[in-house]
Amino acid sequence: MSEAIMYEKIGDIAVLAANNPPVNALGLAVRQGLVDGIERAEKEGAKAVLIYGEGRTFFAGADIREFGKPPAEPFLPDVCTRIESSPLIVVSALHGTALGGGLEIALGSHYRIAVPKARMGLPEVLIGVMPGAGGTQRLPRLIGIDKSLDVITSGRQVGAAEALELGIVDRVEDGAPREIGLAYAQELIDANAPRRAISEMAAPEPVDFDALYDAVLKKGRGQLAPAVAVRGIQACCELPFAEGMKRERELFMELMATDQRQGLIHAFFAERAVGKLPELDGVEPRQLTAIGVIGGGTMGAGIATSALLSGLRVTLIEMNAGAAEAAKGRISGNLQGALKRGKISPAQFEELTEKALTLATDYSALSDADLVIEAVFEEMGVKKDVFTKLDAVCKPGAVLASNTSYLDVNQIAACTSRPADVIGLHFFSPAHVMKLLEIVVADKTAPDVVATGFALGKKMGKVSVRAGVCDGFIGNRILSKYRTCADYMILDGASPYQIDAALEKFGFAMGPYAVGDLAGLDIGWAVRKRKRAEGMDPRARDFTYADKLCEAGHFGQKTGKGYYDYAAGARARVPNPDLMPLIEADRKAQDLTPREFTEEEIVRRYMAAMVNEAARVVGEGIAKRPLDVDVTLLYGYGFPRYRGGPMKWADMQGLDGLLADIKSWAKDDPYFWEPAPLLEKLVAEGRNFDDLNKDAS
Ligand code: NAI
Repeated sequence: MSEAIMYEKIGDIAVLAANNPPVNALGLAVRQGLVDGIERAEKEGAKAVLIYGEGRTFFAGADIREFGKPPAEPFLPDVCTRIESSPLIVVSALHGTALGGGLEIALGSHYRIAVPKARMGLPEVLIGVMPGAGGTQRLPRLIGIDKSLDVITSGRQVGAAEALELGIVDRVEDGAPREIGLAYAQELIDANAPRRAISEMAAPEPVDFDALYDAVLKKGRGQLAPAVAVRGIQACCELPFAEGMKRERELFMELMATDQRQGLIHAFFAERAVGKLPELDGVEPRQLTAIGVIGGGTMGAGIATSALLSGLRVTLIEMNAGAAEAAKGRISGNLQGALKRGKISPAQFEELTEKALTLATDYSALSDADLVIEAVFEEMGVKKDVFTKLDAVCKPGAVLASNTSYLDVNQIAACTSRPADVIGLHFFSPAHVMKLLEIVVADKTAPDVVATGFALGKKMGKVSVRAGVCDGFIGNRILSKYRTCADYMILDGASPYQIDAALEKFGFAMGPYAVGDLAGLDIGWAVRKRKRAEGMDPRARDFTYADKLCEAGHFGQKTGKGYYDYAAGARARVPNPDLMPLIEADRKAQDLTPREFTEEEIVRRYMAAMVNEAARVVGEGIAKRPLDVDVTLLYGYGFPRYRGGPMKWADMQGLDGLLADIKSWAKDDPYFWEPAPLLEKLVAEGRNFDDLNKDAS
């Protein structure tokens, strides 16, 4: 008998206890152990079987160590079927997280009991596949089409209370899973309860599955897995159970062969690898209990909100009492949102706004802060003034961080007497929502300060990426390049609306011009003005239409007009009629004859500009690995996760073809399209970005 499943008989109940730390993943030994355990229980004359997990969880899911290897028998769907077909009553007692195959084992059982903190779900679509061990065949029979559609196509985790409401579990009870499971199984035996196989229940009546498929595909912006999972649910409703299981397997295998699955698996592993850096090995972060935030505008208020929600005490400094009051209003507004969504209780709201948060106008209030994040105006002079003051008041060892988007963190550090304590912590707007945190390591930043940045990110539930110092770090530097590429396409004949549509079809949450309107066109205007003042390279192309929009007071959504006209609401996407004449004037002034762009060319150029700049960012060591770029774009810039990130996308396209395109465009614009040395090197060596990720791991 396998060690991974421990067998014990207690009275009439055979107990199968999973013992495969850390998460009781459903590896080969566990699957075999379950089949053996059921057989032994039947032979030994048990009346019921209890399945539960030792340690912190029920089966958390498939064993990721077996990913990519040929599957070994017994396969999971057969294990579930074997459990279900037992003449004994089978009970699963759930605690921890019962995900994917874990929940499918529970659905193969006849009764399910869970502890109140248990969570469950079928998250397969999140890695580009779908439930493959009966999840799409059993769940709709148990809870109907609508509810199972939500659970399966979202891949979300469902808490025990909701699972009870949905009908996924039969009972929720506090206690040790073994104890509540035993008591429940005994109760079922005593009551002479029937064996209750879900596969024998009637399937729901079919609905218009073609319409459902289209709707799910649209909602996922082209993501296939949730839509294909709809076909699984359809099979449940239209085919006998055994045939439905076969269909589920075929659909599963179809998804296994897609680029989208590769992209999502890459994203899954990249996200886990991003915080693993040799420079952090064995380095302890500094203490983090109380933090300071300077500036309570858009970003400062968001950062303060995120810090409060993660349990930190926050002191926020503003310029005067009025600004401090306004900042408090913003933070309360953000926390109201958390209260509405049930993330915090009214008592916690009170505690966070009245006790954990202190507003001040005097920097001396920061004397006991462990870390201070500056989020004042984006001007070097103002930043230097703030850091000089921080240097004077903060305790030794306090981490001094800037949320600057573009400015040189080395220069900021140099105006203090403690540059080793200075770091960039670049949050994204809205800072209490967006998951990305760029941790910008300056020349003199101490390793434990970097570790503290990562510790803060973890506390706040962020995905943190290490970046080096340059204009715009990883994300904004790459963004400015592909945005420029889009701007050039406009000069050459494309319209902003065509570009937005093409990129949204590619899978971006929003096209670049809709994003510009949302973020505020004044931001880009300020950057362009700064760059012109610093002196632009004479080989760079320039244009005035975007400045003219701003000069006319059109900053996007907040002023009602930008690239689009918002009189009819943001969703209407009505073009601003004033814009095209401005663009045409630029074209005329530069003697350009507009030409046609296909959707395909728009995407190809935009992506090539992104990948080429990203290759420079990696080549220069600003990002340590290609995967750091991928995670940055996925979490901060709306890049479609199912494409894995720009570097993964480039690998899947083939770097040689991409380089050939870049070289052909360079004939017209050698300055903009100069190939990145790293891209040329990889192509010459026949390697790709993922090889670099592997070199670094
Ligand atoms: P904002 O203009 O909304 O807020 C700045 C706040 O700082 C204002 O409330 C102002 O009263 C306060 N302030 C200015 N000087 C101060 C001083 N000496 N002491 C105390 N408070 C002072 O600006 P926003 O958008 O919040 O940006 C702040 C920083 O965050 C900038 O460096 C910006 O580049 C960066 N950032 C902005 C993002 C965005 O999307 N808005 C995204 C990521 C970073």
